[in-house]
Amino acid sequence: MRRRFAALAACLLAVTTMASADEGMWLPSLIGRQVKDMKAKGFKLSAKDIYDINQASLKDAIVLFGRGCTGELVSDEGLLLTNHHCGYGQVQSHSSLEHDYLTDGFWAMNRAEELPNPGLEVLFLERMDDVTGRVLEGVTDGMDPQARQARIDENCRILVEETLARYGDAKGYEASVESMYYGNQYFLFIYRTFRDVRLVGAPPSAIGKFGGDTDNWMWPRHTGDFTVFRIYADADNQPADYSPANVPYRPKKHFTISTKGIREGDFTFVYGFPGTTREYVVSDYVDYVLNDLNPHTIRLRTERLDIIGAAMAADPAVRIKYASKAAQIANAWKKWQGESLGLARLGTVAKKRDYEARLEQWMADRPEYAGLLDRLHEVYEQWRPYALANGLYRESVFTIELLKMVQQLETAMALGKPFPDADVLYKDYEQAVDRQLAAVMLEEFVTAVPEEFVPQQLTAAIAQLGSVEAYVGYLFDNSAFASRERYAALCALDEAAFVDTMAADPAVALYSLLGGTYNAEIVPEYQRLNAEIDALYPLYMRAQMEFEPERNFYPDANLTLRVAYGTVEGYYPEDGMYCLPFTTLEGIIAKDNPDIYDYDVPDRLRAIYDAKDYGRWAINIGTKKEPYYTVPVAFIATNHTTGGNSGSPVLNGRGELIGINFDRTWLSTMSDLEFDPAMCRNIAVDIRYVLFVIDKVGGAGYLLDEMTIR
Ligand code: ARG
Ligand code: GLU
Repeated sequence: MRRRFAALAACLLAVTTMASADEGMWLPSLIGRQVKDMKAKGFKLSAKDIYDINQASLKDAIVLFGRGCTGELVSDEGLLLTNHHCGYGQVQSHSSLEHDYLTDGFWAMNRAEELPNPGLEVLFLERMDDVTGRVLEGVTDGMDPQARQARIDENCRILVEETLARYGDAKGYEASVESMYYGNQYFLFIYRTFRDVRLVGAPPSAIGKFGGDTDNWMWPRHTGDFTVFRIYADADNQPADYSPANVPYRPKKHFTISTKGIREGDFTFVYGFPGTTREYVVSDYVDYVLNDLNPHTIRLRTERLDIIGAAMAADPAVRIKYASKAAQIANAWKKWQGESLGLARLGTVAKKRDYEARLEQWMADRPEYAGLLDRLHEVYEQWRPYALANGLYRESVFTIELLKMVQQLETAMALGKPFPDADVLYKDYEQAVDRQLAAVMLEEFVTAVPEEFVPQQLTAAIAQLGSVEAYVGYLFDNSAFASRERYAALCALDEAAFVDTMAADPAVALYSLLGGTYNAEIVPEYQRLNAEIDALYPLYMRAQMEFEPERNFYPDANLTLRVAYGTVEGYYPEDGMYCLPFTTLEGIIAKDNPDIYDYDVPDRLRAIYDAKDYGRWAINIGTKKEPYYTVPVAFIATNHTTGGNSGSPVLNGRGELIGINFDRTWLSTMSDLEFDPAMCRNIAVDIRYVLFVIDKVGGAGYLLDEMTIR
């Protein structure tokens, strides 16, 4: 019996160590340490091909897109691919009922038709350097947490200032210092920012967002989640503000595209900008997410989505105005639900507690760690109500759009800038929707937020008017911010009248009341406790690394450039069931439903399917003797990715582009806190589907001529 058990344990161990090699988001400048493992799995290049500061390397073909997504260069004329959902805001902002690019798609048929996007920026990483010594200069163990943080911030500020001074007048340089392993290591990142980025093409939403929020975070998947942009530069190939005189940017490097196809078991890596993971946190944090934060934020977003969804379904104009907002709300809302299920399934909190108990034993005879875990638990306990109150403010009252209008005007005034333009500010605003939202959010706010964090004046005002509904009616009926017309009239007032109107405006009053309470009752204590926690983590992280010297630690994601690698592989969602790692056009046609916006396959695609007019994009999924032709659509792999990896290039062993990353599967959504190698899969749109859509559906095949396709 005993022996059998040992054999079983050994077998489990072998499985976990084998598979867990796919966990990790590695720093490109240190990728040399992984290369042996990568080569064993099918990587054919060298560390220098991934990252090099002396000559062009793959990193030079990658951008941080819009400071939240990734994009990759696919031509020597600045052509860039990212996800449809990353360019969604831009496509939406060019859309109207007359030109509904969201529904119909958009294809520039020549350079002159490419559409500029004010505010959109892409950043190339120039280089990254370890600056730990400089950042920790003058920092000593046992320093007061806030003084310690101030010292670090000041050292970073000086470093950034010095760095930028070195570049003198050269355009577009940006620098930042980021901490790795919770302040045990620091890197200086130098970026070049380009600000003239134009929309070249987007598929219809029924391709780019096919399956909508229903299919989001799910596999099998059939979304053609891509958009095409082009980076422009000045005549010297330098970053510049938008100008009709700008020319396509000539990058140092662009990706070669492979159309050879992908097989299960193939090596693949993802090179991009993952946003946030917290793999090494104390159990208390996970417990907070699972038991406090997620239940509240999920409920609040369900309520908002119900209201917005009904309004969108009832009126196409509202659908356009709120499409981007709804997608954004729904995305995290759904992810949190999957995350909570995943954390519960894996028993992450209990596992971490068990780990902490073992760690504590090990710490017992190491005085440098004395009391560390107790202190962490203690601070987290104090922190928890403030963190929750902070989350509730943000997810309830601070989502009321009326108050955001006040905020925008007040921010402009504070900065001495002109008032925001009424047409811009109210372009996507629908008062009736916001009224309903405000009523529900205020009701939630006064019930869910602990009394000590709710302004008494607000409770009194509600009591005086009899109900939240009545209060909201009063608010919207009397505020100058409740419509574009009233706001425009407010801006047109002379100074004295403007000041009087603002002073009497109920939305201005509510905004300052909520902001005042939030800033006085929550922020200072929340920040103080965060600083205390931050001051404990460097030591806690170091303890974990010493406790497990054999473990290959990677730094948590922090929106810096990383490499994740793995294999194309299916998974077993439940007993007796296997999910294949590929989908095809057949699945799109099977889901076709003209009555549901998200599943209404565009006529053009349906016609291509009926005629089997796939040209060079056809693959045979039948046999040699009895061929059956279709088009590949999406695939999954074991790469460790997170939000921010959207739009990332998915590459084969030779560093050729085989797909664009856009999602994770439902059973992976907890991987920001615990990665499960058996279940976690990233989802990519197959590059062949992207090219097929551009070529056959979009009729913009001319774009393929500037790409390097193998
Ligand atoms: N889940 C993906 C990500 O986190 C895609 C989100 C956009 N799609 C959507 N239906 N909301 O960004
Ligand atoms: N869709 C995500 C993004 O916007 C990527 C998916 C994920 O979170 O893994 O970055």
